[in-house]
Amino acid sequence: MTDINPPSDLPAEESATLDESIIEEFKRLTFETLTHDAPKGILAGLVGELVDILESAAGFQIDSRPDVTEGETSSGEGLAISPTQAAMCAGEFQRTVIFLRGLHDAIASVIEATSPEPVRVLYAGSGPYATLAVPLMTVFPPEAVRFTILDIHPTSIEHVKSLVRRLGLADSVDAYAVADACDYTIPGDAIPHIILSETMGTALEKEPQVAIMRHLLRQAPDAIIVPESVRVDAFLVDTSKEIDVIVPEGEGPSSKSQPNRIPVGPVFELNTETIQSWTSLSGDRLPAAAIDIPAPPEPLYRPYLFTTITTHGKHLLRTHDCSLTGIREIPGSDDDSAERSLQFHYRLGTAPGLVSEDH
Ligand SMILES: C[S@@+](CC[C@H](N)C(=O)[O-])C[C@H]1O[C@@H](n2cnc3c(N)ncnc32)[C@H](O)[C@@H]1O
Repeated sequence: MTDINPPSDLPAEESATLDESIIEEFKRLTFETLTHDAPKGILAGLVGELVDILESAAGFQIDSRPDVTEGETSSGEGLAISPTQAAMCAGEFQRTVIFLRGLHDAIASVIEATSPEPVRVLYAGSGPYATLAVPLMTVFPPEAVRFTILDIHPTSIEHVKSLVRRLGLADSVDAYAVADACDYTIPGDAIPHIILSETMGTALEKEPQVAIMRHLLRQAPDAIIVPESVRVDAFLVDTSKEIDVIVPEGEGPSSKSQPNRIPVGPVFELNTETIQSWTSLSGDRLPAAAIDIPAPPEPLYRPYLFTTITTHGKHLLRTHDCSLTGIREIPGSDDDSAERSLQFHYRLGTAPGLVSEDH
């Protein structure tokens, strides 16, 4: 682990403070994003404008590279996506809005409950824009909230540093760290009240969210984690009745077409309680549920995993609200018409994810 204050090798024009009017606009957009009960199109526009300011303040252009995966890192606990792909996440507006609102409420709850000391937020996996934290620095002053910003990619930290400085928010950051979050030792005098991380793929596959939260929460057992829950459930899905166009569930039921899904049961959940229940476990497996999938009522039914993310309190990402809550087919058996009993476990390591075995 290296704590850094890197000397910026960005051009001079990328380290000057931005015009006051842009900073004011950034604050306004943040406020609107947190509070606006607007139709999705309006929210998408607000986040788009917010990201434009982050992009220009960071001096990191999303479309500057032909191969967006260039610079990704395969760590011992999963894939750390490239700085370009991490920057691209910011534009997934529903994800960004629900994480910002959840973190906002988590911070507010800690402020309410604790002494006057500033709330410490450890942000593990910031990407080049630290999208889920920087807007909130305009809402909570540095006397109230301080952030530690960590990423495995030095480029990302360098750009976050520039962006924070250019937006005049440097006092809100206690420290920057270039580190693998799964090896990171939290300094004894900086135990966070909140741990924030969005390092996951659909159904918690490929990326190291589970390992990161497990490693960090062990060192800060009283911290609130954001997201507070990532839950994976199995459904038997009538693939002929799944709607043609992907409609986010957050938009409410479609009047034209209703999917036909039979709930099969919960498979796995990542939350404070489950993480604590794994404390004594070693090795590369975490327990998950066994499920009984009934015989499909018709041939086109297939079993799928669905993901639901609660960032904090009432702030939820449901099926198709963003790429993280897409659906994943459970690999089939020789006889798709028979009922099946599956035992799941969560596989840790370089290719994390849920694995099922017939039993
Ligand atoms: C999905 S992106 C999210 C970027 C940004 N936080 C956002 O939400 O828009 C995940 C970020 O986590 C970082 N990351 C992944 N695994 C990591 C690890 N083991 N240690 C530190 N950073 C990691 C990646 O480099 C990437 O910047």
